[in-house]
Amino acid sequence: MTAARRSVLLAGVLVVSASASAAAQKVFTPDELRVVERIVGTYFEAVRSLSAAQDYETAKVRLIVAREYLARSWTFWTRHERSDAAKMVTATTAALDALDDRMSEVPIDPAGVQAAVQEASARCAACHAEFRVEHPNTGTYGIKPGILGEPAGQGQP
Ligand code: HEC
Repeated sequence: MTAARRSVLLAGVLVVSASASAAAQKVFTPDELRVVERIVGTYFEAVRSLSAAQDYETAKVRLIVAREYLARSWTFWTRHERSDAAKMVTATTAALDALDDRMSEVPIDPAGVQAAVQEASARCAACHAEFRVEHPNTGTYGIKPGILGEPAGQGQP
């Protein structure tokens, strides 16, 4: 997809998700990061199922939103001086771009698309393994203690 077409699609998508977008323009606090990650998760799940169903046009529109929001989280990690995490954001958005390219080929190779979906998922999972923790009592997620420089134990529900 050309850059021009991408931005036209993005403009349309951002109107649709205007309320979510207003909630997460700046990603500075852990609460804002959580909002962003949820959006990324929701849209990436849609990409996963739509691409498996070979509805690539719809999958690409969802992918643009997932990519846009994930890219915003870069500010969060940079602000908290976690360039290691910021690099993982960059690597993951690159994997999402590669997936977009796969879904823009003519003809589309379904196996290649699925491989790109797996590659992107692996990037998400790698970052989650390093920076995310699941709170055992609630099943909710947070940032691992110590990552933002706070004393261990803080930030638990
Ligand atoms: C830079 C590291 C990083 C990358 C890359 C990343 N995440 Fe996350 N993600 C996190 C962290 C940290 C949390 C926990 C934040 C929270 O929920 O408070 C999280 C939380 C989540 C959540 C749970 C939100 C909630 O609390 O309900 C989902 C869903 C999610 N990420 C999806 C994704 C997907 C899908 C990708 C890949 C396209 C991805 N993430 C890439 C770090 C990352």
